[in-house]
Parts: sequence; structure tokens; C-alpha cells
Amino acid sequence: MSNAFEQAYRRSLEDPEGFWGDVAEDVRWYKKWDKVFDDSNKPFNRWFVGAEVNTCFNALDRHVEEGRADQLALIYDSPVTGNTVRKFTYRELRDEVAKFAGVLKAHGVEKGDRVILYMPMVPEAAMAMLACARLGAIHSVVFGGFASNELAVRIDDAKPKIIVAASCGIEVGRVIEYMPLLNGAIDLAKHKPDHCIILGRPEAKAALLDGRDVDWAEAMKSAEPADCVPVAATDPLYILYTSGTTGEPKGVVRDNGGHLVALKWTMKNIYDADPGDVYWAASDVGWVVGHSYIVYAPLFHGCTTVLFEGKPVGTPDAGVFWRVISDHKVKILFTAPTAFRAIKRDDPDGALMKNYDLSHFKYLFLAGERTDPDTLHWAEEKVGVPVIDHWWQTETGWSIAANCVGLHKYPVKPGSPTKAAPGFDVRILGPDGEAVPTGETGAICIKLPLPPSCLPTLWNADDRFVTSYLSDFDGYYNTSDAGFIDEDGYLYIMGRTDDIINVAGHRLSTGGMEEVLANHPDVAECAVIGVADDLKGQLPLGFLVLKAGVIKDHREVVAEVVTMVRDRIGPVAAFRQAIIVDRLPKTRSGKILRSTMQKIADNEEFKLPATIDDPVILDEIREALEGVGYAGVRNS
Ligand code: COA
Ligand code: AMP
Repeated sequence: MSNAFEQAYRRSLEDPEGFWGDVAEDVRWYKKWDKVFDDSNKPFNRWFVGAEVNTCFNALDRHVEEGRADQLALIYDSPVTGNTVRKFTYRELRDEVAKFAGVLKAHGVEKGDRVILYMPMVPEAAMAMLACARLGAIHSVVFGGFASNELAVRIDDAKPKIIVAASCGIEVGRVIEYMPLLNGAIDLAKHKPDHCIILGRPEAKAALLDGRDVDWAEAMKSAEPADCVPVAATDPLYILYTSGTTGEPKGVVRDNGGHLVALKWTMKNIYDADPGDVYWAASDVGWVVGHSYIVYAPLFHGCTTVLFEGKPVGTPDAGVFWRVISDHKVKILFTAPTAFRAIKRDDPDGALMKNYDLSHFKYLFLAGERTDPDTLHWAEEKVGVPVIDHWWQTETGWSIAANCVGLHKYPVKPGSPTKAAPGFDVRILGPDGEAVPTGETGAICIKLPLPPSCLPTLWNADDRFVTSYLSDFDGYYNTSDAGFIDEDGYLYIMGRTDDIINVAGHRLSTGGMEEVLANHPDVAECAVIGVADDLKGQLPLGFLVLKAGVIKDHREVVAEVVTMVRDRIGPVAAFRQAIIVDRLPKTRSGKILRSTMQKIADNEEFKLPATIDDPVILDEIREALEGVGYAGVRNS
């Protein structure tokens, strides 16, 4: 007999409308759909056409109405601000959000308007997101580790009426003032917001601009609470910009209805969470994991979500995750493998764990990058709970492959996020578009249609949506990850097929970094690759060919390009190293052989590309890499 996972999976593919239509009964709608799924305007498919809903109502108000008013909705735990803890019940969070929605409304925000949020990990970030959802406005959160230029690009694309920001963010031992970054971005951008609402934090005073800036606390004093505004299920809830293959980010659009239906379903079926459970996603609201699993899904499901402002190590030590789990009785923790590699490095025996009561802790979920078997085994052994790798993308909003423990727990195979999740018909295709045999690596694709919550399009860029995802293989969404499926149906994700790299679980474009390096006056040509790193998974490494006649000290040029990437993209790019070489290896048609360079750097085997222009250059690259400790030198 088939298990609950197999039954759900089969039905989700054979009868997607029946499957998701039933799941959708769990949501509170103002008006039910005319059609569960509409593909009349291919490839721009839509879920729950004709339905009306409000995301914030389903996250907060419904729980207040249904008996959870006094249950904790959100716990803020901030070791970087002297161990501040603030707790909000569902009623308190609903009231704060309704008031802040009133502030936005008083400043002209209406359904369909965009609001950019440039916020650190404070409860007000979640409140601002939910307040936008309450009004039917579209939020776009920009991660605090991005510099002014990145913020400016997003301002020009989203054209927000309002920007909500804080006076500062806090990194380990360092306060990051946001006002200079915000002002710099608004100066750079062509589009200007009507107002900025600034949350003052005690760690940095914000110099507010007369006429433009509004103080959050002042505005809240006189705010009239705003009600939930019904929106079409197909209306956008948010835009989240993510790295594309150029410096221009892609604005992933998320709809209200499909997102709500799918994410609520994942809480029990993937994470085995029940209403009332404490769920902690140790990520950042600026990333998709933060949107889906710090803010929306746990609240849709009536859980208590933990919003943590700190790092896995250094705030104050590698025991902080155990302290938070113990203090707040966390049942499920979701984070990136890099966080566990950092903990393992600082506390290899897990000695700090012994100081805490972890009896409520039941599952550790990891995503954002591949979970390496060492980290998996260490976590399994030390923590003693199931460690579940799951694979997903900003574009989907939830996991494409997972061990859906709420349905059926499969044995864990190291290196695999287990099986495709219900709704995702995952196929491995060769360059000819045909399925490759079991066990062989190819492009990981999803046969259309994509399930609810996946991007219906890119903001202002329908054509780019089609060319980026749907054009390579007819009838399929190309994930741009490569991998294989084994004889038991387990999926293995082997890496990206484009120039995206994953640095400490953060998705970055090497193409975007190259655009910055190419702007240095002494640089003739450049390439950036991701090289393996024990802690962060990957780190960017630049190669520079200097213009003829440059006599400057090479170290000076390298220091300058490092500063340029930090200033233009942000510290999160973690770009710290570049090598100056005489020439770059290319194909005869002039394409730089980045993936061959990466394989040399990581000391992996590679086939000499048949179209290489001059193989001798690869020896020069190897020598240069050896000179800075790559290409096997470190391990020898
Ligand atoms: N605002 C401003 N700066 C930020 C920032 C933010 N929100 N987030 C990171 N930065 C800065 C860091 O301070 C660091 O600056 P530095 O170069 O001056 O040291 C730089 O960006 C790189 O940050 P990061 O790659 O995060 O490295 P780190 O050394 O600070 O921390 C880890 C390393 C592994 C502890 C950390 O990356 C981590 O916790 N990763 C988990 C990632 C995660 O949750 N990903 C989400 C997907 S689930
Ligand atoms: P992001 O859009 O930031 O979530 O990044 C998505 C990319 O991160 C994917 O396309 C993968 O390359 C990588 N990724 C995310 N989760 C995993 C995982 N569990 N295993 C391997 N790679 C992953």
C-alpha cells in the first residue's frame, strides 16, 4: 500500500485542481475561486482565479477570531542589542500591524502601490510586511547587507510610493547606519518615493529630512487602525529581487492566493508543525526563507514564530542557537548549512549544547545550499533530531524537494534533499530536451504547470520571465540547477548551471560582480568564479587582466576592486580576493571558461574543452591559483 506522501504526490500531479482545491479549503476567503487553475493565457498561468482574499487576515485576524488571540505570535530575540526579548500575542501583533497599516494609508498607500522595506531583523520589519499585505499594497524587502546602488536599482524597478527603513542594523560588534545608505540610494535612483518612514533605534539616531521623512514612533501615536482590504487571489503580495545572471536583479512576483494556500499546507505536511508550535527560521527577512518561514507560513498556521537578530556564532558564542531553542521551546529550526558549519567549527564537540534544555526540539531543516555529509552527520549525532535537507529557490517560495516528514518520513540519504514535493513534477533533461537515464546528471526542470506560490512572472518583465525560465526546454521551468535522480527517486542537487554562486547561503551573481570589476579604469578584462570554502560553501574569487601599460602596484588594484564591490553590491558579497593574470582562458568564440577555472581552483577533475583557444593558459591559471592557496595546494 502506498504511504501518505505517495498518495499526495500522485494526486497533486494527476489532479492538481482537485488537490489544491481541497487544500485551499483551509484558507479564509472573502470569495471563493471561479477556477482553481487557469492556463488560458499560457505561459502566464494563474491559481484561484476569481477568488478574493487577504493575506494579513489569514496571518493574524483569523487567529484572533478563532481563539488564539492570547497565544504568542512572534518572539523577537536579539543578542546583538543586549539580549532584548520582545513578545507579541496574536492580538497584540494584529493591533500593531493594523496601526502601522493606518500610518501607511495616511501617507497615501493604497492597494497595488509598492512599498520598499529596508529593514534589519526587528519585529517592525514583519509588521511592515503584514501592514502592506493588509492594505493590498505590494512590499519589496531589500536585504540590509546590500549597498546603496543595489537599493537604488530596486527603487527604480519597483517605484515605491513609500520606503520604510530603520536608523540602523547591527552586525557583530558594529552598528550599520542605514540613513547614509538610504539617502545615497534615493540620490542615485531616478524614481523618488513620496515619503520614508524611519524606525529610530537607540543604537543610532537618524537625521530625518524635513518633508520627506516620518518618524515611525511619532506616526504610530496618532494612527487610525486600518482594516484588511480584499484583493484578488492573483494580485501580487510582494516582489522579491534575486540575483539573475547580470547585475540587474530579477523581481520575483508572489501572488496572494497561491502563496497562502501552498505555504499553509507546507507547515504540517513538510515541517510537521501544528498550530501552537514554536517555529524558528534563523534567516533574514530580506531573503525568501525569511518571507516564507519567519513571517508568513508560521502565522498562517497559528504557530509562534521566532525572529532572531544575531548570528550562529559570536553573539556571544556557538551556544546561542541552543539558548534560543531552550528559552523559547522551539520545536522546529530551519537554517542554512553554513550556520551549522560555523557552530561546528567553534564548538566541535557540541559542548555548549549541554547547558540547555532541548527537549522541545524535534526537527532541524536545512536549505539554501547543499548540506555536505560532514555537517549532516555532525548535526545528526550532536543534536539527536532528524536533520532534513530541502531544496528550493526564491522563485518557488517553498521547497521543490523535501523529506515531507508530516506525510511520511523517508530514510535520509546524505547529499540528497530526498524527493520532489507534491505539486512539483521534477525531470532531469539532457541538452536535447529528452529525459536522461536514472542516475545521470542533467538540467533539473519542472514540468509545467508549477504549483501554487511559484512565480507567475517577473515584475515589469514578462519577456524576461519567459526567456529566463521557460525557453530552454519547451513545457518546462528550468531551475538552472544541475543534478540527478537515483533509483529510489531521490534527487541530488549538484550545482548551478549559470553564474549564480551561494555564499553563506546568500545567492549572488558573479556576473554582477564582473560588471563592477570591469568598471575599474585599469582593468581590461575580468572574470569572477565561486571557489569552495569550508565555512561559507563558496566564496567569490576575481581574475583581472590589466590594461597594457598599467604600472600601479597590483595589490593596490586588488584593494580597489575589493572596495568597489563592497560599495556597489554590499558587504554580503564577501568579495575579498582577486588575482592578476596575463590572460583568461577562452573558447575560440571568445567565451571565458569560468567553470573550467572553478574546477582547477577546487582541484576537481575536468575535461579539456574541445573548443578551447589556447590550453597553455590553463597552466598559467593553475599556477596563479596555487600561488594563493587554491588548486589543491591547501590540501597537499
Ligand atoms: N547588514 C549589513 N551587513 C551585513 C548583513 C546585514 N544584514 N548581513 C551580513 N552583513 C555583512 C557581514 O557583517 C560581513 O561583513 P564583513 O565583511 O565586514 O565581515 C559580510 O556582510 C559577509 O556576511 P556573511 O557572509 O553573513 O558572513 P559573516 O562572517 O558575518 O557570518 C555566518 C558567517 C556563516 C555565521 C553567516 O553567514 C550566517 O549565519 N549564515 C546563515 C545564512 C542564512 O541564514 N542564509 C539564509 C538562507 S536560509
Ligand atoms: P535562493 O533563491 O536564494 O533560495 O537560492 C536558490 C539556489 O540555492 C538553488 O537554485 C540552489 O542552487 C541552491 N540551493 C537551495 N537549497 C539547496 C539545497 N537544499 N541543496 C542544494 N542547493 C540548494
